[in-house]
Order: sequence, then structure tokens, then C-alpha cells
Amino acid sequence: MAHQQIADLHIRDLCPDDSTAIQQVAALLVDAFGHLESGWQTLADAIAKVEESFGADRISRVAVHTSAQAAQQVVGWVGAIEQYRGHSWELHPLVVHAAWRGQGIGRALVKDLETQVRQRGGTTLYLGTDDEEHRTSLAGVDLYPNLYRQIATIQNLGHHPYEFYQKLGFLIVGVIPDANGWGKPDILMAKRLR
Ligand SMILES: CC(C)(COP(=O)(O)OP(=O)(O)OC[C@H]1O[C@@H](n2cnc3c(N)ncnc32)[C@H](O)[C@@H]1OP(=O)(O)O)[C@@H](O)C(=O)NCCC(=O)NCCS
Repeated sequence: MAHQQIADLHIRDLCPDDSTAIQQVAALLVDAFGHLESGWQTLADAIAKVEESFGADRISRVAVHTSAQAAQQVVGWVGAIEQYRGHSWELHPLVVHAAWRGQGIGRALVKDLETQVRQRGGTTLYLGTDDEEHRTSLAGVDLYPNLYRQIATIQNLGHHPYEFYQKLGFLIVGVIPDANGWGKPDILMAKRLR
């Protein structure tokens, strides 16, 4: 699919004093993850999550759309946490507003994050992408027997985002079986940045 360039969209730091943007990011989290056990069900929980992203060992970036009326709307958020003494960073979390998906914003946020991590000397970006809803062939089964074969033959049954990350150059490097309860794994992915 050719992505349209979205005019009036830019990516910038999310700042602790930008309460309007923080509220908008929190609403995105509740909307995208509120139905999951591992997600954020209330706006207050989500705001606390967003505020964690202002630590010194964090990166917190928002995609902002400016409308003709000059109102700013946050349409996506990506965060990262410094790990392994700065060699590697964990991407967490990533969300694009439901009405803005499929237009290249997720890709743009991850590309921007890669640049941010490189600038800080990081060489690896990694993430865990849960499957709590049987959206891949790795859910609802016992992964311990033939683990590597099951990873190699993974199928996307329900538009699970692991394929989004594959398109951006990430590889599946492992799985935590039953991470979220029996048959609900966390799929681990990584990308070399240089
Ligand atoms: C996953 C998510 C961030 C993707 O953002 P997006 O802006 O819709 O993605 P993009 O438009 O940049 O897509 C880039 C490519 O990935 C593909 N893609 C996007 N989501 C996909 C999915 N769930 N499964 C398979 N492919 C996907 C797109 O088709 C596109 O492919 P193309 O380059 O061949 O055309 C977004 O769907 C989202 O916020 N989902 C809910 C929250 C979530 O799951 N976050 C990730 C948790 S680990």
C-alpha cells in the first residue's frame, strides 16, 4: 500500500507540562488497550503510565496533527526505556489513534524512535508484543514442545501487530510462553540499528 503523506503532521517530544497532550495520549491508551488485562482501564491509570515516560532513562514522542482551525490533536505515541546500560532500548508502548491507522503514522513513529535511540548511542531496539486474544498461531497452544518450529511457522490470525514490526525490519527473537496466563504469550522482537 502506498502511504499518503499526511500534511500538518509532526513528531515531537511529549513534555511533562503539556497536560492537553498527556490527556489525549492517555485516552489513546484506554481506547487501544483498555479491554486487555495488561492494559489501562481508566484515564487515571493511563495518565500515570504516560507520566512514567518522563524519566531520564526514557524517550517519549508524539505524532501531532494540526488542523485548519490550528487545534492540535495527538494521533500517536511511542515510548522507549533505556536498558542494558544504554546499548539496547525497549520500545514501550506504541499506539496510533484508531481513526488514523493505516496511513503510515506507526511506521513514522518507530522510524523517529530509531533515530532518537541512535542519537543516544543505542544499537538495538526491542519489544514484547503480547497475544492475549488468540490473534496469532502462538496463542492457545502449549509452546514448549517444538518452540522454535512454532515461532518459525507463526501465522497472523487476527491482524496482530507482530507483522507491522516485521515490515519495519524487526525479527521475532523469542517468545515468553504463557506470559499473560496459559496460552497468552509475549512475542519478543528486535532490530539492529547500525
Ligand atoms: C500497530 C499500530 C501501531 C500500527 O500503526 P499504523 O499507523 O496503523 O501502521 P502503518 O500505517 O504505519 O503501517 C505500516 C505497515 O504495517 C502494516 N500493518 C499495520 N498494522 C498491521 C497489523 N496489525 N498487522 C499486519 N500489518 C500491519 C501496514 O499495512 C503497513 O504495511 P505496508 O507498508 O506494506 O503498506 C496501530 O495499528 C495501533 O496503534 N494498534 C493498536 C495498539 C497496538 O497494537 N500497538 C502495538 C502494541 S505492541
